[in-house]
Amino acid sequence: MVGNNTPVFFVRDPMKFQDFIHSQKRRADSGLRDHDMQWDFWTLSPESAHQVTILMSDRGIPKNYRHMNGYTSHTYMWVNAKGKRFWVKYHFKTDQGIEFLTQQEADRIAGEDADYHRRDLFEAIKRGDYPSWTFKVQIMPFEEAETYRFNPFDLTKVWPHGDYPLHEVGRLTLSRNPSDFHTEIEQAAFEPNNLVPGIGSSPDKMLLARLVSYADAHRARLGVNYKQISVNRPKCSVHSYSKGGAMRIEKVSDPVYKPNSKGGPKADTERYPEQAVWSADGEFIRAAYTRRKDDDDFGQPGTLVREVMDDDQRDRLVSNAAGHLKNGVTESVLERALEYWRNIDKDISDRIAKSIQGN
Ligand code: HEM
Repeated sequence: MVGNNTPVFFVRDPMKFQDFIHSQKRRADSGLRDHDMQWDFWTLSPESAHQVTILMSDRGIPKNYRHMNGYTSHTYMWVNAKGKRFWVKYHFKTDQGIEFLTQQEADRIAGEDADYHRRDLFEAIKRGDYPSWTFKVQIMPFEEAETYRFNPFDLTKVWPHGDYPLHEVGRLTLSRNPSDFHTEIEQAAFEPNNLVPGIGSSPDKMLLARLVSYADAHRARLGVNYKQISVNRPKCSVHSYSKGGAMRIEKVSDPVYKPNSKGGPKADTERYPEQAVWSADGEFIRAAYTRRKDDDDFGQPGTLVREVMDDDQRDRLVSNAAGHLKNGVTESVLERALEYWRNIDKDISDRIAKSIQGN
């Protein structure tokens, strides 16, 4: 898994991903970042409302890597020893507790120490204060995906814990620093397609796109034999029929194809049958495109603002969003942004408007 610190994402259609990224990065003319471009894209993509609300909330600026949660965001499939299939979402809950920076604190620190987060993590591990995360999962029985009120493969939605509680699985502890940042960190190739038997994908189209995109990036970034680089090399021996390509280090021997009658390695399909497949006839592919009765873009972010946040958190949300919108957003985009916030929550939108006018 290659997740991040929020349980949802800005878009649900992978074809929009590159446009999303362009809108958050830099302009073609000046090469500068531009809030107008960000809000232009977000307000024309209402499915972003849940993630933008989280981004503008306290969770948008974690105090450091140790004080934030991690999520797969996507739904994956698990298959148990009896071949029964389940849908699963992963949550890594910080054992250090959630802590955040205010916008003002973050602005100051960014000017003083651009390496603040990396330094914090490295120094904590160096002094033996190993950060850990309790690993929990939400589990949905396979058949319930068809009828659940939200589309469970929609990456812009969470599964409410009241419907699918968290089950504790284990603990992830970061207990060792790299001694060579380049070979151990920069050459690492994390990819959501790196799955072991018993874990499979779901019909979430974003995840399906990521299953090819990351390995493609790794071939371009590190070369076709990137899995032979020491940080990416599996601990156990792996037998495949791949051969050739730049920087291939491991020797191969004949036969170099399968199937073969020469005694070459073959998959242990008895112990590891191909079970982690969700659809033989495509029914879930169609279901993944279908909207459910509770599938609107503004419902969950509205609930987050009204029922999860407290007054102080709402104050900071208003201040963060207004501060961002005051900085270089054109009139027409601003109007759409206020309508976007009105769809999430009218009161918050009025307060953001007031705060913008006040300055
Ligand atoms: C269609 C959607 C997406 C596409 C095509 C995509 C593509 C990519 C690519 C090509 C990279 C660079 C990989 C590398 O060179 O190692 C990357 C990095 C990353 N992506 Fe995505 N991404 C998508 C959505 C997401 C989502 C939904 C998440 C979080 C849940 C995410 C989290 C990350 C993270 C954390 C990295 C940095 C990984 C690292 O440094 O090792 N991405 N993405």
